[in-house]
Amino acid sequence: KNIVILISGRGSNMEAIVRARIAGAQIKAVLANRADAAGLTFAREHGIETRVVDHRHYDSRETFDAALQAQIDQFAPDLVVLAGFMRILSAGFTRHYEGRMLNIHPSLLPAFTGLHTHRRAIEAGCKLAGCTVHFVTAELDHGPIVAQAAVPVLPDDDETSLAARVLAQEHRLYPQVIGWFAADRLVWRDGRVYVHGDVG
Ligand code: GRF
Repeated sequence: KNIVILISGRGSNMEAIVRARIAGAQIKAVLANRADAAGLTFAREHGIETRVVDHRHYDSRETFDAALQAQIDQFAPDLVVLAGFMRILSAGFTRHYEGRMLNIHPSLLPAFTGLHTHRRAIEAGCKLAGCTVHFVTAELDHGPIVAQAAVPVLPDDDETSLAARVLAQEHRLYPQVIGWFAADRLVWRDGRVYVHGDVG
């Protein structure tokens, strides 16, 4: 399966996916909406094609999304992976990739959509936090959930310590889910997500 990964910054999830050497998955390209996204360096060093589509050069979300889509589709992806891609996507764009675009969100959805998830989980007194991989739909952070990982929130946690604990799980969970997709084990049908075979 051909995979295109979209990032905006550090790119540690992208890095975990590349390092996982997922059977049946070929990382065709890494795209960013900022030329200074740190993860682009790792991708280039690993011989992966990179592209930058800078949102500031477009006067609307629709024109940016159209340019992004044109770049992505040059690589004929079976799967588009959002990995810390910090742009809200238009309905047309999400529809184009329906069933073939995943996102990772650093909370146990449906709790804490949007930003500052760890701070909000601590403020709410949650005893568990975590991350969610979901199919992308038009509504931000609301697509069908594929998999989640939970971690404890410890009494002395701050945003940084909790984020680090969750991120370690993100780096494990995202490659695992992409592995399911690459092996044709992931099915989204009638509003439900199924993983065929043993979950491993
Ligand atoms: C991750 O926590 C991801 O869940 C969120 O943004 C962060 C991106 O980190 N959407 P990285 O760029 O993958 O290091």
